[in-house]
Amino acid sequence: MKKLRNSSISRIGKEFALSTADLRRIMREFRSEMAKGLAGGKSSLKMIPTYVDKPTGREKGDFIALDLGGTNFRILEIALKGGGRTGDPRIMKFVLQKRHVNGQGSELFDFIAGCMRKFLDKYRISDDKLDLGFTFSFPVNQTAVASGTLVCWTKDFSAKGVVGQDVVALLVRAFRKKGVDLVNVSALVNDTVGTLVAKAYQDTDCDIGIILGTGTNACYRESLSGIRKWRGPSTKSGKMLVNTEWGNFNKLKLNRYDTFLDAHSENKGYQILEKAVSGMYLGEIARLVLVNLVKDGMLFGEMGSKVFKKAVGGAKLFRSEYASEILGDRSAGLAATGRILASLGVRKTSTEERRVVRDVCAIVRRRAARIATAALGAVILEMDGRIARRHTAAIDGSVYEKMPGFAADMRAALVELFGSRASRIKLTLAKDGSGKGAAIVAAVAAGENRDSAHFSCGESVGKMGAVPIIKS
Ligand code: GLC
Repeated sequence: MKKLRNSSISRIGKEFALSTADLRRIMREFRSEMAKGLAGGKSSLKMIPTYVDKPTGREKGDFIALDLGGTNFRILEIALKGGGRTGDPRIMKFVLQKRHVNGQGSELFDFIAGCMRKFLDKYRISDDKLDLGFTFSFPVNQTAVASGTLVCWTKDFSAKGVVGQDVVALLVRAFRKKGVDLVNVSALVNDTVGTLVAKAYQDTDCDIGIILGTGTNACYRESLSGIRKWRGPSTKSGKMLVNTEWGNFNKLKLNRYDTFLDAHSENKGYQILEKAVSGMYLGEIARLVLVNLVKDGMLFGEMGSKVFKKAVGGAKLFRSEYASEILGDRSAGLAATGRILASLGVRKTSTEERRVVRDVCAIVRRRAARIATAALGAVILEMDGRIARRHTAAIDGSVYEKMPGFAADMRAALVELFGSRASRIKLTLAKDGSGKGAAIVAAVAAGENRDSAHFSCGESVGKMGAVPIIKS
């Protein structure tokens, strides 16, 4: 069995291997896709201008944030105290049902508005007009700081009638229906932007925001002259955050498991990098590898359960959380792994079999971390070709936070790519930043609306408040 394990694991390892040269190739291709996207040409990277720059850290006041992007969504009230400090937020979490995620768009927005009503009632928030930052973690063609149309759904969302619509307008309409009149939606932000902005409120080196969770994506700080498709006014700082939507990058070498997963996915041909890297898919890739071993009679003998026999699965059969638990199993006989497998219907497993399962999870994780690092490397080189400055990447998401070895794999790949210059790149966990970041952007946008002053998030992005005055 041991020999069998070694040979099959090394074969699988080869199918998922990415050499340093492969990573460099990905970086090159990624940069070329970035350039095309920034120029407005055909590219798998949308490179969306966000109408937002880094904050100054001086933003102040009470703000509401609404954070939608996964099956949970949150409403927060946050006090920004200036000097990079914030008070403890008041938070309510809600679970979305299938009918919200995959039904009619109006059901989704009505539900959100109903939750907002509950939030305001619970905390008796009624005195003044409140500014709200809306974190909406999907590809949105931003037309102003507080408006933008949904390009396409990603992850497992498919609510009808929303693609092509202004999501802020949909939210405001739903608010009106539920009598939520006090809330003024003053910013629409992607979760990567929220994560970056929240970190940059305290750390001036922060110029990248990354999500490695259910989905994956990154935003970074670009010079306006580099955004060749930008037709808006020039800005004092000359910079703006750009949402890469890197999950859709499609210049990756795919193996048979990737091809199979993509072919059976809801958005075939899209979100190729996301399908190799993010939490929605990592467990499923590992499962597909295990299914093959079971089919070849190399794993679980007669014990194979449905979970490891079904060809087409989905994110819920062998969830990435299981892979994380297995990768964190430190017991000699991999008892926790045994328990997970038993819960999935494989009642009896040998230690060797559990090791195979763990090794497969590690192979899939390592490749994901290496791809994410190559993409990150490309983004850093775009900002600073010689890596002469310090860069902090604020990273949020369950894969980065909870999958044992993921962060270490990323750090190792960074050193492999950049040698000693990698020490200028800080990868830092920025938990739950996206809501806070949305509140900060709302603060900036609201301030600019009230005084008609120049947008002072970081420096200036011209006069862009809640009113969509710039169409791209
Ligand atoms: C998906 C979305 C993107 C988001 C990411 C992380 O890739 O398209 O907008 O940032 O998931 O939530």
